[in-house]
Amino acid sequence: MNRREFLSRIEGLSAGALACGAGLSLNGCIGFHYVTTTVSGNRVLINKAEFGTGRFALVEAPGFPLPLYLYRGDGGGYSAVSTRCTHRGCQVEPAAEHLICPCHGSEYTNTGRVLKGPAQRPLQQFPVEIEGEHIVIELPVGGEME
Ligand code: FES
Repeated sequence: MNRREFLSRIEGLSAGALACGAGLSLNGCIGFHYVTTTVSGNRVLINKAEFGTGRFALVEAPGFPLPLYLYRGDGGGYSAVSTRCTHRGCQVEPAAEHLICPCHGSEYTNTGRVLKGPAQRPLQQFPVEIEGEHIVIELPVGGEME
């Protein structure tokens, strides 16, 4: 990897994630940016100010054993996906401008589309809305998809 590629990879990481390497498990990585949430029914609210200026944050949600990955795109819109790999359920990890599964190497876009298998299906996605100063993630009533 040359300097330009390295800097390109770093650019996509939030400030809170810089302390962690792409090869570390999120469970063992204390540097990733988790946001505080307010839960109301099946809605998870995140204060925009807490999301900060980074590109992503991890969100703990009721009924989901793994955090959700909340990403802010170039246009300022947000997307939220499960971090459960659709291949065999390992936790995917943020790595610059995409997500990587450490178990068998599947790769996903920041919005959950499969870039590289063995996973065949996209990550579970959740609608995201902006309401005033909050980013709102709508969870399915039935909880996490199998
Ligand atoms: S569990 Fe993610 S690639 Fe196999």
